[in-house]
Amino acid sequence: MKGLVLAGGSGTRLRPITHTSAKQLVPVANKPVLFYCLEAIAAAGVTEIGIIVGETHAEIEAAVGDGSRFGVEVTYLHQHAPLGLAHAVLVARDYLGDDDFVMYLGDNFLLGGIDDLVGRFTRDRPSAQIMLTRVSDPRQFGVAVLDASGRVIGLEEKPREPKSDLALVGVYLFTPDIHEVVADLKPSARGELEISDAIQRLIDDGRRVESLVVSGYWKDTGNVNDMLEVNRLVLESLEGRTDGRVDDDSELIGRVVVEDGAVVERSRVVGPAIIGAGTLVSGSYVGPFTSISRDCAIVDSEIEYSIVLPRSSITGVSRVEGSLIGHDVQVTPAAGAPRAHRLVLGDHSRVRMSS
Ligand code: DAU
Repeated sequence: MKGLVLAGGSGTRLRPITHTSAKQLVPVANKPVLFYCLEAIAAAGVTEIGIIVGETHAEIEAAVGDGSRFGVEVTYLHQHAPLGLAHAVLVARDYLGDDDFVMYLGDNFLLGGIDDLVGRFTRDRPSAQIMLTRVSDPRQFGVAVLDASGRVIGLEEKPREPKSDLALVGVYLFTPDIHEVVADLKPSARGELEISDAIQRLIDDGRRVESLVVSGYWKDTGNVNDMLEVNRLVLESLEGRTDGRVDDDSELIGRVVVEDGAVVERSRVVGPAIIGAGTLVSGSYVGPFTSISRDCAIVDSEIEYSIVLPRSSITGVSRVEGSLIGHDVQVTPAAGAPRAHRLVLGDHSRVRMSS
């Protein structure tokens, strides 16, 4: 079996977290979502992985390299434009050959790995095996309709009026049967070759499509609360470790990771929390469920239940809570009277002020 990871796309769709960089590299507990995906595939025993890349290929390639640190062999497959998930399968046709494969969308996050799914597939070898999960707004997903016995009878891509709350999770297993239907697909109304149409075709042709309902799933839909929540879930199983420097006037309580080159001085950090490499925490309080990325500065501030992306600083601010702070952001107090907020916010930013 091979792995096919989709990390293409234009890199401009993910709001409000990043407008310009690869959304697959958005960190959860300071690790790119894409890395969890590669680790899950490797843990399931699949060691040959093709990664579909597009416009943001340089960033993805720099982050993942040849795959050796995940114990896998990565081959990059270039897709000239994001023409759909099934188009990515077309691009990978030669790479995949006649092997079964697990296709994993690089911006999807699944708690608990895919061993179970891969195990079942290898045992039963249906033409396709999909994963479903219950979501509150199915309109942003592929949606499945099951019959009374739980068999998949229909799939609809981002329906306006969903017939169920069962969303397609971005992890699919296929036998080479999928190539026949993909070769024959026409673009959907949004101009993409849809993998859900290809799977629907398999169902219509009477081939076996199995499904598994899972929980612990997340995909970024621009929803900050969801992202904070998935960050919290991952931090729940964090093991504390101090590779950086913590001075005697600081206190680390509970499971805290202080990465290499990070400095914590005159501060209190209550875990689970991560302080990224090269980050300075000085005269501050960092509360539970907080991930501070690398090369940040938290100075004379308080922050809790939040995510801070690389190279941002928070100085003299109390208190930041339930927040997602992008990269290269500076948060400072307003100087002098009159008391007023001065803001430089990017497009589609969302801010909640306490006054
Ligand atoms: O996340 C689950 C959903 O993923 C499913 O419920 C939907 O049925 C499925 O169509 C897909 O929906 P999205 O439209 O949200 O997929 P998105 O465009 O976000 O692409 C998913 C990943 O695949 C992302 O990492 C970018 C990559 N991609 C996407 C396209 C369209 C490619 O590599 N090439 C592409 O052509």
